[in-house]
Amino acid sequence: MRIKKAILTGGGHATRLRPITSLINKHLIPLANKPMIFHAIEKVVEAGVEEIFINTNPGETELQKYVGDGGHWGVKITFFEQTGGPQGIAHVVNEAKKFIGDDPFIFYLSDNIILGSIKEMTDEFNKNNFDCMLALSKVPDPNRFGVPYFDEAGKLIDVVEKPQNPPNDFAVTGIYLYGPKVFFNAFEKIEKSARGEYEISSIHSHFLKNNFKVGYREVTGWWKDTGQANDLLLANRLLLERMEASEFPNHGSIDKSADISGKVHVGIGSQIKAGVKIIGPVMIAENCILENCEIGPNVTIGSGGELRNCKMKDSIMLENSVVDADIKITDSILGKGVSVIKKPGQEAEGHKMIIGDKTIIEI
Ligand code: G1P
Repeated sequence: MRIKKAILTGGGHATRLRPITSLINKHLIPLANKPMIFHAIEKVVEAGVEEIFINTNPGETELQKYVGDGGHWGVKITFFEQTGGPQGIAHVVNEAKKFIGDDPFIFYLSDNIILGSIKEMTDEFNKNNFDCMLALSKVPDPNRFGVPYFDEAGKLIDVVEKPQNPPNDFAVTGIYLYGPKVFFNAFEKIEKSARGEYEISSIHSHFLKNNFKVGYREVTGWWKDTGQANDLLLANRLLLERMEASEFPNHGSIDKSADISGKVHVGIGSQIKAGVKIIGPVMIAENCILENCEIGPNVTIGSGGELRNCKMKDSIMLENSVVDADIKITDSILGKGVSVIKKPGQEAEGHKMIIGDKTIIEI
């Protein structure tokens, strides 16, 4: 049976990414100018999925507004709330039981980004009638992840969640394929872990100890949000570097004096005025204004952004923010509606700052 359904995560509180996540669901943070969750949606659609179910926090409305009904990708998207509060990611899947029926499906943690495709893995799963298939990736710190255990003959025999002494440097990524029914039968058999969650690794351990047919495949170019701003900046850079030149069209107006090199996307209605230097890869969304500034490489600018008289590299700026000051910005994330401006005469008075919780300013 071919996989046509996927469950994606869209909930959680991402407290470690505050203040950025105080006003925005972390799955909507733009990486290479696309909300994080769009990358996950694109991966499952490319693998042949036609129906997607996304779990949300209770009362969530933004995610639905941005993602819509799936028409943009030619698929059907349905949202569902996890009942009874967060109880682990295996519980998220069990909550989607009513949508899955007897069908095989992909479960994809939307804060996992891979540069390659999961199409080949999905094809292999479809061909081999696996009960479950895991995507593995080598990492420097496997103790932060689910880790696969192999016997001496190299056979996969267990998956252990965040082991203190991992026996190898593989992590089980947040991309899982499951056969019809088996997931839900296994969910009945597992118990909450010490951290009070239904662990996805407990499901895999149950499969392996009860002779289910579990396959695996190594994926390369895997990245996971680990809760730090620097991790988001790295993902932004990797995605920008990897994107094809054809994904960087110019729909804006560009002044003759502007010096543009490398892959640069200029969105509809954006104006690149005099004195601008842009070093790709850079993604500039719609209705932005750039004037007398140097931008790039590895910069994503959200719609309605304004940059004047400044330099910016290796950074993400969300919608409707303004930087107009003689300032060099690097390795930074600016939220929505932020202003960094130089006011004549202000220097003598002192800098005026209205700053949200957990903001970081290094000057
Ligand atoms: C979860 C899983 C873990 C997996 C990881 C991948 O970890 O429990 O097995 O390796 O996702 O993203 P968590 O992010 O909940 O700590």
